[in-house]
Formats: sequence, structure tokens, C-alpha cells
Amino acid sequence: MNPTLSIAIKAARRAGGIINRASRDVEQIKVSAKRDKDFVTEVDKAAEEAIIGVLHEAYPNHAILAEESGASGDSDYVWIIDPLDGTTNFIHGFPQYAVSIAQAHKGVLQHAVVYDPTRNELFTASKGGGAYLNERRIRVSKRVKLNEVLVGTGFPFRYFEHVDAYLGIFRDMMHKTAGVRRPGAAALDLAWVAAGRIDGFWELGLSPWDMAAGALLITEAGGLVGDLRGEQNFLETGNIVGGNPKVFVQLLQIVAPHLDARLKA
Ligand code: IPD
Ligand code: CA
Ligand code: CA
Repeated sequence: MNPTLSIAIKAARRAGGIINRASRDVEQIKVSAKRDKDFVTEVDKAAEEAIIGVLHEAYPNHAILAEESGASGDSDYVWIIDPLDGTTNFIHGFPQYAVSIAQAHKGVLQHAVVYDPTRNELFTASKGGGAYLNERRIRVSKRVKLNEVLVGTGFPFRYFEHVDAYLGIFRDMMHKTAGVRRPGAAALDLAWVAAGRIDGFWELGLSPWDMAAGALLITEAGGLVGDLRGEQNFLETGNIVGGNPKVFVQLLQIVAPHLDARLKA
């Protein structure tokens, strides 16, 4: 195994241990709100510290972009970290959340780990090396017909500027696909696209740490990801569409009529 990927796995498992221990008594966890409906717990912070500790021990000079502590360091190598994706689920004891760690070199994603500590499912990928769930190779689904596909999404529950455009897309997705799911942890949703559990996914207004690892997992599993026009700017725009290649194209066609001056890509 690639040594950088094994360091990322070690970091993700350490964070997963912290999260699992805390999940035994969620009532005890102190929760504060960074902004309206944007919760953070001491568990998010402890998990992030543990991850950065492991990464910096191995790579003291690499830069970090982490949800809770922000950007630090100056290097061609950047670790993009969401220590606990799905905090709202976690706080409620709703077992759908994950640790997400990606490494980019000069802006190109190289390694990805999404770890679901509840199910002990470890999704990993390195650029050019395929995507894995635990030791097993994973691939995106082969479904093609829209009325047979299951798509995942996330609701724009914090910012409402794109809610009408979102609901327009949602209406068309609901109408044309076999079903829409909102599990509540974007990084894990993307990993599930890579594993073929859902055929496609879209969400607006995400942050790089929600998407980086999941995006590499999807492409290494034979799928495609892009922004709302299918271009490669999703880490900048925060808007993402992903899926198996045939579904990806059809999801973009559903999204296209809803793009306007406000909702660009
Ligand atoms: C959130 C989850 C959720 C998505 C939100 C994210 P967090 O991450 O990924 O599914 O809809 O936009 O912010 O805050 O739990 O790390
Ligand atoms: Ca997140
Ligand atoms: Ca988070």
C-alpha cells in the first residue's frame, strides 16, 4: 500500500476511535453552534487534532485545510480534512457520519480516505490505483435508466439563496428517478456513489472538506464528478454532481435548466 495512504488511514482510524467512544453517550457531548444550524462538538475538535497530529508527525511540512482549525502551512501538498462529516446526525445518535481526509498535490487530488466508524467501513483511493472498501475493490453502479436509479442529495438548509433553484432540481429528480435519499453526510454519500450503493449525487453549497476525498473515490471507482456544468471547479463553487458516467450526464441534463444568473455552476 502507498505509504501516504496508510498514514491517512491511521489518522482516520484514530479519529474514528474518538468518535465511536463518544457516540456511546451522545447526551453528554457539549454542542455549540458556529453559525445558525452549524454545530460543532468537542468530538469534532478532538478528532481533528488527532488527525493533524498523525499527519504532521509523518509530514511536518505539509499544509492543512481543516474544517475546525482552518488553513495552515505553505506547501504543494495540502491535506483537506473533515474530522466528522455529519455532525448533526452524530449529535442525534443517527448513525450516518464519517471522517474524511484527502491529500492534494499542486491542486490535484492524490489520496482519499472516508471512514465510517459506525460500520467500520473504510473507503480508500489513490490516484490511478482504484477505489476500495476495506480490502475489496469497488466500482460505481452500472445502472443507466433514470427511472431505475437511486440518487443522493443534501438539502440547502443553511443558506437559502439557492433554495428555489434547488427545489426545481429536486422536483425533476423526484419525478424522473427511482428515488432520492438525503442521508446527511456528504463525504459518505459520495463514498456510497463510489461503492455503487447510490447511482448519483448532487448538492449545492458544500465546502472542499465535504467533497475532496469522496470525489477521488468516485473517479477511481470509474465514475465522474463535476460542478453543475460538469466542469472540474466543484471544490471552488461548492456545488457538485457525481455518479456513474451514464447517470452523471443525465443528472447534469436535469440540473441545466435550473442554472441562472444566481446559480452559476
Ligand atoms: C455537513 C454534511 C451534510 C451537508 C452539509 C455539510 P458537517 O457537514 O456533509 O450532509 O448537507 O452541507 O456541512 O457540517 O456535518 O461536517
Ligand atoms: Ca462536512
Ligand atoms: Ca464536519
